[in-house]
Amino acid sequence: MNTSAQTSKHGVIHRYRRFLPEIPDSAITTIGEGSTPLIEAKAISERIGARLFLKFEGLNPTASFKDRGMTVAMSRAVADGNVACVCASTGNTAASASAYAARAKMKCFVVVPVGKIALGKAVQFLAHGADIIQIEGNFDAALKLSQKAIENLEGVALVNSVNPDRIEGQKTAAFEVCEELGKPPDTLAIPVGNAGNITAYWKGFSEWKEAGRSDAVPKMLGFQAEGSAPLVLGHDIEEPETVASAIRIGAPASREGAMEAAKESGGKIESVSDDEILEAQSLLASMEGVFCEPASAAGVAGLLKLARENRGPSGTVVAVLTGHGLKDPDTILSRVKLPEPIPATFEAVAGRMESSA
Ligand code: F0G
Repeated sequence: MNTSAQTSKHGVIHRYRRFLPEIPDSAITTIGEGSTPLIEAKAISERIGARLFLKFEGLNPTASFKDRGMTVAMSRAVADGNVACVCASTGNTAASASAYAARAKMKCFVVVPVGKIALGKAVQFLAHGADIIQIEGNFDAALKLSQKAIENLEGVALVNSVNPDRIEGQKTAAFEVCEELGKPPDTLAIPVGNAGNITAYWKGFSEWKEAGRSDAVPKMLGFQAEGSAPLVLGHDIEEPETVASAIRIGAPASREGAMEAAKESGGKIESVSDDEILEAQSLLASMEGVFCEPASAAGVAGLLKLARENRGPSGTVVAVLTGHGLKDPDTILSRVKLPEPIPATFEAVAGRMESSA
């Protein structure tokens, strides 16, 4: 048995090294990210009139897709001799950065909007020992401040998706989808916040084709939340709002990548309402057994909306579920209540079961 976790053959760097920037073995920081399941969603397929698969990125080590990019960004930060890293975050980037930084023995500053981080994510970066900087501002302000901070600091790496290493790592999800299906899907549906992930998937599908491994690329459908939809409106939003806190972003840093992906693939960027997002999250949990956080359901919400309006895609569709539902317990608890307790007797339990049978 190989006892060194750092040389384990798991993780996206080992799996797709030839497609990634150069990283010396000694700098590789991995927690075994990637190789997430592609789950056929038969019940929702019937509703949307296409064959739907879910790429469940909530099953990465810190329970979101961020880990794919973070392994590359952190490894390269180590290789470059950095001693600390910083990120702005709506929660998941901070959870991922703090875990990978812990492993790399690097200090990790996370700049987060006060009161806007889902509980599960805050618990993660607290557990991993991040240095938490809460600001009285939103994600967009946090990103600007983080970018400015590194200009004046030596040895500190910015690990947001404006760091191209993040995009390189995240594109591996597109490779996995192609490998698992045997070819690219006809359409990919994905939530859009800061727009790094749609940029990364498009890069991945394009490179897979350029490498001669496929002869097509999917149509890219990006979905923003209605109250945070700068790419749909065509201008930045000062005060973005949505229940999907992960994508509460008014000035996406990778807007050009997202617009290019939509345009070049013949796809589009549209928006979905908070109610549509929560309905999709609930359908995924109750009909497919897959629990994702609200933002992650935006892609499926978009597919359901397009199908209702008779303009949905056909063929094979992959929806990216970007983060696990356990990240954000409060959104569920605010909508459904636990039942009142009953006595611990057979009669009471049997009576309860009969009444709801
Ligand atoms: N889904 C989840 C669960 C996210 O956490 C994010 C982004 C997105 C979708 C959107 O991805 O920004 O690449 O378009 N979360 C970032 C964060 C902003 O700080 O964790 P994107």
